[in-house]
Amino acid sequence: MSDPLDALQAKVRALREEFERALGEARDPQGFQAVKDRFLGRKSGAVTGLLRSLAGLAEDARRDAGRELNALKQDIEARLDGAREALTARSRDERLAHERVDVTLPGRPPVLGRRHPLTVVREELEEIFLSMGYEVYDGAETDDDYHCFEALNMPPDHPARDMQDTFYVAGHSGALLRTHTSTGQIRYMLSNPHPPVVRIICPGKVFRRDDDITHSPMFQQVEALVVGPGITLGDLKGSIEAFLHALFGPQYPVRFRSSFFPYTEPSVEVDLGCIVCGGKGCRVCKGTGWLEIMGSGMVHPAVFEAVNARLGRMVYDPEEVTGFAFGLGIERVAMMKHGIDDIRLFYGSDLRFLEQFPA
Ligand code: DAH
Repeated sequence: MSDPLDALQAKVRALREEFERALGEARDPQGFQAVKDRFLGRKSGAVTGLLRSLAGLAEDARRDAGRELNALKQDIEARLDGAREALTARSRDERLAHERVDVTLPGRPPVLGRRHPLTVVREELEEIFLSMGYEVYDGAETDDDYHCFEALNMPPDHPARDMQDTFYVAGHSGALLRTHTSTGQIRYMLSNPHPPVVRIICPGKVFRRDDDITHSPMFQQVEALVVGPGITLGDLKGSIEAFLHALFGPQYPVRFRSSFFPYTEPSVEVDLGCIVCGGKGCRVCKGTGWLEIMGSGMVHPAVFEAVNARLGRMVYDPEEVTGFAFGLGIERVAMMKHGIDDIRLFYGSDLRFLEQFPA
């Protein structure tokens, strides 16, 4: 008959082998826990079961077998702890390798935005006029017939209105999108903090029912208005020439031609020597050597009278004060400066176009 201790030792050996196999197959913390439960679990662990069976042995055999089993139990615990630590260390190493930052790589510069080319031109214009003592005045993009036409000497049915068909605001009778910044002349004179003297520019968006390569339904203008006692056509010419020379450079000649606008008398159209060909004649200036750049003129007395009528008193007495005004398109200036032939490029939001301008 075999010795019970021998038999137990055989079982312990078998359990060790079984444990090593099971441990070798465990891959994660849950796997290790399952192995632990299988061998050391309180209720049905294999080693626990053997420990319980010691009760039936004789005193000496029980002591030896107990020592044997406790050693097995401790070995199993130590092996499990070691395997758990190895797993933790391995996954930490993997994570570190994965998340490694190479601090020697060159940095990735953030993409910086830039001002729109039209914003650049508008701000340039504002700077020039501010340096000449003008004030920058914001008018209103949504305006009405009175400020846009009537007060500017264009009564209903005046043929000049045909050239500036606009958008009306549905549901707001009389509200329209201004067709030109000349509305700013009227708005400023009506709220002038130091009447009758005016020296303003009014830059901003204007709207017309036009859409082709040189006309956009929304575009931008800058209006200028100077009013006071003794302002003359000479002041108009000198101021415009000074402004254009500051903007384009003193090498370009400036030409004044007579023209017509309902709100000025006399009216003039201003041309700049072609900046593409220098005046010799080219495709851009259509062979004339000149580029039309703005409308201008001496403020028509009817405009002062309309403002006085609205104010209810004689504030701008046409016998006492005179003034000049002009208006130009910002897109047109930008197109001339950069040699751009399609106005729609400014409003297409295409970065391939916009990124060609200095930041
Ligand atoms: N308002 C005109 C336009 O939009 C431009 C203009 C012409 C403005 C003559 C003026 C001016 O102030 O005097 O075409």
